[in-house]
Amino acid sequence: MAEILNVKYQGSPCYDIVFDKSFDELAERIKELGFSNRKFAVITDSNVKPLYADTITKLVEGISSKTVVYEIPAGEENKNLDEIRKVYGFLIENKFDRHDLIIALGGGVIGDMAGFIAATYLRGISFVQIPTTLLAQTDSSIGGKTGVDFDGYKNMVGAFHMPSLVYINISVLSTLSGRQFASGFAEIMKHGLIKDADFYMWLIENMYEIEEKDADVLIEMIKRSCDIKRRVVEDDPEEKSKTGGRALLNYGHTIGHAVEKYKNFSLLHGECVALGCVASAYISWKKQMLSMEDYYEIRDMFVPFNLPISVEDLDVEEIVRLIHSDKKADSDFIRFVLLKKVGKAVIDTTVTDDEVRAAVNEIIWDEKFE
Ligand code: GLY
Repeated sequence: MAEILNVKYQGSPCYDIVFDKSFDELAERIKELGFSNRKFAVITDSNVKPLYADTITKLVEGISSKTVVYEIPAGEENKNLDEIRKVYGFLIENKFDRHDLIIALGGGVIGDMAGFIAATYLRGISFVQIPTTLLAQTDSSIGGKTGVDFDGYKNMVGAFHMPSLVYINISVLSTLSGRQFASGFAEIMKHGLIKDADFYMWLIENMYEIEEKDADVLIEMIKRSCDIKRRVVEDDPEEKSKTGGRALLNYGHTIGHAVEKYKNFSLLHGECVALGCVASAYISWKKQMLSMEDYYEIRDMFVPFNLPISVEDLDVEEIVRLIHSDKKADSDFIRFVLLKKVGKAVIDTTVTDDEVRAAVNEIIWDEKFE
């Protein structure tokens, strides 16, 4: 029997997140939402389509009037308006109307793109998220932010549009590479670090079972992580809070995004988030929020989960420049997320460029990491 978390929007129940070890309940859950005898468009990518598109199509065949599949070429470089335009054409060709349904089948890029199509096609139609990466299952499929990159800026164009259902089947994680699994795990660690010290300790205590992908441990881990994200997005659904709320989810992302861009997306998002978490913990230590022991413990806890804590060939000045050009940076100061302690993040607007330089130097690989 699947487990459920309901996410509220503006105080009212909005959508369920289903945690399951199979897709057994998928058709029934979609039917319960009132989508019987409607057209379904499964939007997926070239990596995921050969793995799961047929399975999903067969499962929903009995409840839809027609199910069609659209494949977007895999990769962040295709998260743009040109690809979105092609999908609009496909939906028009297949005569999709406002009562039909989009099913996002894939990782974070597909969830964001399919969600954006659902938000904008005919001024908004419903969509279901079936996240297939750990990162999407634990983070990007929840919260309703949808969008695409524009002119080199990540998620520059988008809309808030809540899914009708998020269906998490952990068995799909078996086809994920070790690197992709670790990348998703970085956001899970981040959730513990910013909001829940007990969860952070639980992750460390269950390190072995997580590595072994023990099904019950994975369900508990993903559910607890989603619950943290749920609490944050319920309190600040549209990222309006300047003092906390959703902005706290950016812990590790200010430096992480700059590294991601500097490395031309050759590192995975979660790998850059792990590096950003280490650098931001370093700043937190230098600002006397965290103790030295806390800092080293946080840094070293990424290692057994196969995440980097240092990287070669970073140009410190270029990272500082990229941070200032990020769309989230204010013109005068950077809105950093720092840690007061494990489980308690705060927004800090006093971080200087010199403090950033020192933190970036800390994550540049040298002999101390041997
Ligand atoms: N879709 C991701 C978020 O809303 O945070």
